[in-house]
Amino acid sequence: MSIPELTRVSELFSYRNGELYAEDVPVRQIAAQVGTPFYVYSSAAFSERYRRFAAAFGAERPLICYAVKANSNLAVVRLFATLGAGADVVSEGELRRALTAGVPPERIVFSGIGKTAQEMTAALTAGIHQINVESVPELHQLSAIANGLGRIAPVVLRVNPDVDALTHAKIATGKKENKFGIDFDEAAAVYRLAKTLPGLAPVGFAVHIGSQLVDLEPYRHAFSRLAELVRAVRDTGLAVDRIDLGGGLGIRYRGECAPKIEDYAQLARSIFGGLDVSLAFEPGRILTASAGLLVTRVIYVKQAKTRRFVIVDAAMNDLIRPALYDAWHDIMTVDKPPLTVEFKPADVVGPVCETGDTFAVDRALPSLAPGDLIAFTAAGAYGAVMSSTYNSRLLVPEVLVAGARSAVIRARPSYEALLALDQIPAWLDQGAVAQPHRRGVA
Ligand code: LLP
Repeated sequence: MSIPELTRVSELFSYRNGELYAEDVPVRQIAAQVGTPFYVYSSAAFSERYRRFAAAFGAERPLICYAVKANSNLAVVRLFATLGAGADVVSEGELRRALTAGVPPERIVFSGIGKTAQEMTAALTAGIHQINVESVPELHQLSAIANGLGRIAPVVLRVNPDVDALTHAKIATGKKENKFGIDFDEAAAVYRLAKTLPGLAPVGFAVHIGSQLVDLEPYRHAFSRLAELVRAVRDTGLAVDRIDLGGGLGIRYRGECAPKIEDYAQLARSIFGGLDVSLAFEPGRILTASAGLLVTRVIYVKQAKTRRFVIVDAAMNDLIRPALYDAWHDIMTVDKPPLTVEFKPADVVGPVCETGDTFAVDRALPSLAPGDLIAFTAAGAYGAVMSSTYNSRLLVPEVLVAGARSAVIRARPSYEALLALDQIPAWLDQGAVAQPHRRGVA
C-alpha cells in the first residue's frame, strides 16, 4: 500500500481548481441544487473503509455487522449490504431499515439494553442471526416471547468486563457502573440459566466497551477477559460458538493517533484465534465518519469587541456532537484559501438560541463573508442520525455521491410536513382564537 488509506479517504473530499469536491462533484453545485445546510457522503469512502475492515481479517471472514446507528440512511445501509455487511440494530426502526435496505436477516444482530416485547417479536419473526441480551429480566422476557412464538432465539450474552475504555465519559460503556451488559462475575451463571429456559439457545458472548477508542489496550483487556470466560464456560461442559466484539474503533478528529484497523484485527486474532469461535464485529464510526461532510453557509460575520463570530445556517440540531461531547470537527472552506491568506481565530456558531450552539471556538480560519460555504469534516457518523427539529428547524438533506453522480438520499422536508406532525385537540380547535384585548374597543 503506497499511501495511507486515511489520506485516500480524505482525497475523496479535496480541492480541484480552487474549490472543494466530493469525489467528482463540486460541493458548491450540490449547495445550489439542495440548498444549505446539507450532509454529503462519498460512496467510495464508505466502500474503502468497509473493504479495509474486511481485508484486515482476511480468510477468517468474520461477520461484520455495520452499526446502523452511526448512519442509518437506507442508501448507506444498502451500500454496506451490497459489500457483504450485516447489520447491528438497536431498535425496531433500525431493524426495519436493515431489512428494507436488503440486509439478510441471518446477518443481523439486535443489541441494546431495553428491547421491548414488540421489538423481540419483530426480531424473532424476521429470523435474525442473534439477539444480544444484557440482563436476566430481558432473558426471561425473550424466553417467554420466543416460546410463545414457537421459536428458538439465538442468544448471545453481552458481558460488562469492567474495563475503562479511556474515551469520553458519555460514550464509555464497559465499566461496571455503566448500565450495559451482565456483570462479568455473573455471566457464566446467566449463560447456564439461559440454557435451561424454553425458547432460548445460548450461543456465545459479546462485549462493547465504548466508542471512539483510540487506544488498543482497553480492547486487549476486555477481549482477554472474554476469552477467559469462554474457557471457563466450556470447562463446565457448555458450548460457546460465537463471540461478538462490538464496535468502538476510533478515528482521528483532531490530533488523535487512532489505531490501525490491521492492529485491531491482529489483536482479536491473537486472543481468539485458537479458540475455535466464529467472530462478529459491530463497527459504526470507523466505516462512516470520514465519508461525510456537513456543508453550511455563512449568514453573518459579527465582529464583537474581543471575538469574531461566524454565524452559519447549520446548528446544534443538525450536528450535535460539539454541543454534546465538546467534539472537534475540522472545518474546510469550500473555496480553497489562497496560500498567502492569513488565518485568524473565529467562533463558528449556529442560529439556535443557546450558547451551546457552538461548533468551534477560536478556530483558525481565513476571512469569511456572508454567503461563503464551509464544511465540517468527519460528519458521516453520528451526524444526520442525531439531528432533531429543535427550534422548528427542518431536518437537513443528505446527498450521496459516487464518482460524478450525486443523488439526494433524504430530501429536506417541507414546513407543512413538519407542522402536520402536530395536532390541535378538538377542544382547542373550536371557536376563534381570542383577539388581544384592546383598550377602548367596545
Ligand atoms: N455496538 C454497540 C452495542 C454500540 O452501542 C455501538 C455504539 C456500536 C456497536 C458502534 O460503535 P462505533 O463503532 O460507532 O464506535 N453518538 C456518539 C457515539 C455513540 C456510540 C453508541 N454505541 C458520538 O457521536 O460519538
